[in-house]
Amino acid sequence: MNEYSEEAISSAINFFENLNLRMSVEDFMRKLLEISLAIFPIFDRGSVIIRHGGEWRYVAWIGYPDELGEIRATNLYIPDGENPVVVDRIMEMSRGFLTRREIEQFEKVGSELLKKTVAVAIRVDNKAVGGIFLDSTKDVHITDDLLKAMKAFGKLASIFTAMKLYQERERGYQREIILAMRKAMEARDPHTVGHSERVARYAVSIAKKLGLDMKEVDKIYWGSIIHDIGKLAVPEQILLKPTKLSPEEYEVVKRHTIVGYSMLEGYPWLENIRHILRSHHERCDGNGYPDGLRCDEIPLDVKVVSVADAFDAMTSHRAYRKALSLEQALHEIEKEAGKQFDPEVARTSLSVLEELFDKNP
Ligand SMILES: [Fe+2]
Ligand SMILES: [Fe+2]
Repeated sequence: MNEYSEEAISSAINFFENLNLRMSVEDFMRKLLEISLAIFPIFDRGSVIIRHGGEWRYVAWIGYPDELGEIRATNLYIPDGENPVVVDRIMEMSRGFLTRREIEQFEKVGSELLKKTVAVAIRVDNKAVGGIFLDSTKDVHITDDLLKAMKAFGKLASIFTAMKLYQERERGYQREIILAMRKAMEARDPHTVGHSERVARYAVSIAKKLGLDMKEVDKIYWGSIIHDIGKLAVPEQILLKPTKLSPEEYEVVKRHTIVGYSMLEGYPWLENIRHILRSHHERCDGNGYPDGLRCDEIPLDVKVVSVADAFDAMTSHRAYRKALSLEQALHEIEKEAGKQFDPEVARTSLSVLEELFDKNP
């Protein structure tokens, strides 16, 4: 029976309780190694590898020189299945499938000194995507307790890695879809692109000034970038018309809110920004469209995008009217506080917009 140090156990408990996905894979694996080595001091070093494309890379190590991080290997020993495996003299065992260069690199970091290794696979979708290795330069005795704990660490690392992969995939999809949409807009109406980017910049700064957290700010950024995406469905002769729109034409343009909202339907990773597309033309006094929402029914992120959107529209030239000056536009926002805009968002926006406006590219 092993005697674990109280300190090691409590730092392990603390780590597991505070686990979160904001942590990088490198930080997580390093912490896991620290804890394993503290709980099992019979090991004097350890490392974690993760597969990147076709090769294995070291993402964390303790007790090895940093050159270990430079090794890229195509074949490394990883146990099959989820049970940990005890390996004697891992370097001798690996020589057969390592390249000459890899052998040199491993010798340089002292791998031939290792007498006992416990390895466990990190598995996602039933495939090994990485491995945790605890090594000793002595012929230590490996207990059943230790193997049980290693199995649990392997599972924990597997869960974390899987969640990270899904999170990345989801983010990747979101980015790709949004960028594809933006390209479509650009092809159609070059004005919209500069507009979306400015709205995003204004809205993000206003959101930060309001003290919103990074998740909200991120949502506001992507929501702003595609807030007018529904204009893809507005016929070109209306969208690019150089003169003022007729009331019928204006009704068609107004539909871009509902069209954008339905375009994003069915993509779980865009679900959290859809409402920005639908409601960015709502007004606090209830005279906006498409739903005539009132101030307390309009979400805060939408209110932020609305001010940014209106400000950019006012300060941009249109074929049928000249741009307002910065002072005129700010005055307009102040005047509309409580009518078109949320009073607090409008007030907070004034100084932010004033500061950002001059720095426009
Ligand atoms: Fe719009
Ligand atoms: Fe807009």
